Amino acid sequence: MGRASSLIDDLSAAARFGGDGDGVTRYAWSPEQMAVLRWLAEQLEALGLTATLDAAGNVIGRWDAGSGKAVVIGSHLDTVPSGGRYDGALGVLAGLDAIRRLKAEGFEPARPVWLASFMDEEGARFRTALMGSRAFVGEDLTELADRRDPAGVTLRDAMTEAGFAFDRLPEAVAIDSVGAYVELHIEQGRVLESAGAGIGIVTGLAGMFGMRATFRGRADHAGTTPMDDRRDALVGASRAVVALRDHATRHPGLLRMTVGTISVQPGGFNIVPASCEFSIDVRAERGDDLDGARAWITALLEDIAGDEDLELDLRHTHSQPPHDFDDNVIAALRQAADAEGAKTVDMKSGAGHDAMVIGRHAPAAMIFVPSRDGVSHSPAEYTAPEQCELGARVLASAVRNLAQPG
Ligand code: HGY
Ligand code: MN
Ligand code: MN
Repeated sequence: MGRASSLIDDLSAAARFGGDGDGVTRYAWSPEQMAVLRWLAEQLEALGLTATLDAAGNVIGRWDAGSGKAVVIGSHLDTVPSGGRYDGALGVLAGLDAIRRLKAEGFEPARPVWLASFMDEEGARFRTALMGSRAFVGEDLTELADRRDPAGVTLRDAMTEAGFAFDRLPEAVAIDSVGAYVELHIEQGRVLESAGAGIGIVTGLAGMFGMRATFRGRADHAGTTPMDDRRDALVGASRAVVALRDHATRHPGLLRMTVGTISVQPGGFNIVPASCEFSIDVRAERGDDLDGARAWITALLEDIAGDEDLELDLRHTHSQPPHDFDDNVIAALRQAADAEGAKTVDMKSGAGHDAMVIGRHAPAAMIFVPSRDGVSHSPAEYTAPEQCELGARVLASAVRNLAQPG
């Protein structure tokens, strides 16, 4: 009989915060996000760690042992709208379970072991992806303060409402105390499931950037305005959406372009759309492809604006270059996976993760566990209990490797 896994119980418990009956929605700084962070802090304290909520809303659990720089396990508890219960949460809670396992076996780390839940990895509310880990490494986030969510609330005000102060973000810097960083995450793709492998050894990540585009035309009467006398902002956006898809599909290397949000003003069925705002999410494994995509998208939107007699406003929301992980941390994860008898596949991540931010300042690497049918960012997201537990065991074994003397 296997160990009654608290990990699966923890996943169910966490999913109740922001659970909307179908999926899970926990936006940064929202009451449900702050509640799940307080719940995590209680679990950490119950394990004998000290838990703090830093100035950026990151929960940091500290197992103060040994000396020197800490081995840090991390991921995130915020979600996309109507997301799944595993994206981010499994990484944090498998880390909690790994520490639980190490304590239960009487392991004595030679250096501190931390568990981090980074705030706002998804950026779903303010387009502020990876904000918590970016604050943790000391990036200047000043330009994010006035970002507004769909309800018009600024990030600064949302933080104040949650009991934080935007201007105190620099107090969250702690990267100099990190000796190594490991992150477990669901794969969010089909590679592991297709290969029948239980663990992905993630050697690096694709780069990404986000844009927010607005076309402005003219509101007109749908019935009286001739088709050749319109400045229809939604027609412009529609041409862009299809052109982005076609360009990325034709591109020889890995290039993915997605328009995930679109809004039309004034939004009347019998009004020619006056303005249309939409997001553009771009991913590529090579930095050159990202640079090429930026230039291509700008030219495309300017051409469409000229063609449709529209004004264009184009802004960058976030950007992360491709990143290769640290060989030593990859080796520690591989050794741990082998020790747990896992079938492994080496792979790159097409998704962004906090590890890509931490990894630019401290040695870092990741492991993936399978996603059923590759589905993620959806209530249908699922990873089987035995796959979750294997991941937690591999994390525990990796932390044992990284935190032992020598
Ligand atoms: O969008 C991403 O790559 C991640 O899920 N935040
Ligand atoms: Mn995600
Ligand atoms: Mn994630």
